[in-house]
Amino acid sequence: MGQSELPPYFQINPDAAVAALDAPMSTAGFAAIARACEAGRDDLASRGLSADGTRQLRRFSTWEITRYLIPVAQAHFRRVLKQNPDLPQGSSETETGAKWFTLDEVLRLRAFFGSSGSKTKEYQPYRPEGLPAKMIAVANFKGGVGKTSTAAHLAMSAALDGYKVLVIDLDSQASMTSVFGGTVADEWQTVFPLLARHYANYLRDENQRRMDRGEAPVPLDDTLTDALNVKAQSLVQSTHWPNIDLIGAQLNLYWAEFQVPVWRMQGRGWKLWDALTDVLADDGLLDEYDLIFVDTPPALGYLTINGLAAADIVLVPVGASFLEFDSTGRFFDMLHTTFASIEDGENLAARALGRPEMAFQWDAVQAVVTRYDGSQQAELAALMQAYLGKTLSPHRQDFTALIGQAGEQVQGIYEADYRDFNRETYARGRETFDNTYAAFKTLLLGTWRRDERAAQEAAE
Ligand SMILES: Nc1ncnc2c1ncn2[C@@H]1O[C@H](COP(=O)(O)OP(=O)(O)OP(=O)(O)O)[C@@H](O)[C@H]1O
Ligand SMILES: [Mg+2]
Repeated sequence: MGQSELPPYFQINPDAAVAALDAPMSTAGFAAIARACEAGRDDLASRGLSADGTRQLRRFSTWEITRYLIPVAQAHFRRVLKQNPDLPQGSSETETGAKWFTLDEVLRLRAFFGSSGSKTKEYQPYRPEGLPAKMIAVANFKGGVGKTSTAAHLAMSAALDGYKVLVIDLDSQASMTSVFGGTVADEWQTVFPLLARHYANYLRDENQRRMDRGEAPVPLDDTLTDALNVKAQSLVQSTHWPNIDLIGAQLNLYWAEFQVPVWRMQGRGWKLWDALTDVLADDGLLDEYDLIFVDTPPALGYLTINGLAAADIVLVPVGASFLEFDSTGRFFDMLHTTFASIEDGENLAARALGRPEMAFQWDAVQAVVTRYDGSQQAELAALMQAYLGKTLSPHRQDFTALIGQAGEQVQGIYEADYRDFNRETYARGRETFDNTYAAFKTLLLGTWRRDERAAQEAAE
């Protein structure tokens, strides 16, 4: 073998390597790198923003509306618009060109068709009256499996379908927050104060009990006192989607992972896993929205436990690879250990006091194959299907170049303008996420209907 054919890791000269090296790094070096990243990030982010600094959602064409959003024929759609000049008429780039509508206008048109059109058509998506929003947590402690992409696309699909959506970012990496253009200054604009409020309320009740017993109360520190005044609504930001709101995250949210165990040590009876559910319910958010999507970090920390405990539906994205399947198995094992140990701890006390025992319950838990490549992964996916059965969604979310290609301006398929792509590529990419939504919506409608029937039976 000639020298030129040696692999690249031979013949590296240590002296040349020294010369190429920077000085040893100090802690301050991290700060410098972080500043460089931030400047670059701001530059990138600004390219996706409009002149006034806010992100804007693209418009939707008549073709797209009648094909994907409102189930009517194009000719009928045009006729109805003509007959009703008060309805949004859309705008076009040229005199005779196609009409394009904002999502706000699409939602108004949908409402109009819903109230005046044929009752046999599905203009408004199903939600049983009087029942609370469904919460959906997307979780897996394995990183990069498609949690954020799945949650973001489902939120957008549901919004296009006419649901009112809240997205909660529990990941201090804040990917979901940047998908929806959120701005979060510090942990006080994340769910952190809601968890603090839940604990502060517990501590106040506990202090009352202490004083009744003649014991000294535990003083509430500034954080807890301030948190008592924070309402969930004040953390909700609107996004460039008219029917998607956001409670964002930011790096400081990670602080919760250190603070929560301290509170838990201090207040042994605090049910931290109920914090998110209780606060959202108390503040009425479960009535204000149809669906609440919770994106979680790649870890089973306190924030994820809160998100999972609050969820009605848990979706677990997983790639069809050995490592991801293996890791996901261990994730379910950890879920079992974690929630079983909470139940055991609670029920030990409950039994001693003669109170009813508690058990966590989820409406549905489903694993979803993401980033699927049928030419390489069919065998592994079939094997996963065989072992997981109904727990694995039969729909596999294909790997699509559309996600990578969509560029800085847009985040995912539903924000991309189909004219920027080859029609075939667009149709296939969109179809796979439409199917992901359809599989999810089947679960959702099933769980809502089950609740509705239970409520009816209870009323009889
Ligand atoms: N269907 C898909 N086709 C192609 N690329 C995808 C698809 N889904 C996700 N990706 C890409 O895979 C990468 C990881 O996805 P994502 O950020 O959604 O994972 P995650 O589980 O949220 O990661 P983390 O654990 O860091 O939060 C991203 O670069 C994303 O663009
Ligand atoms: Mg993520």
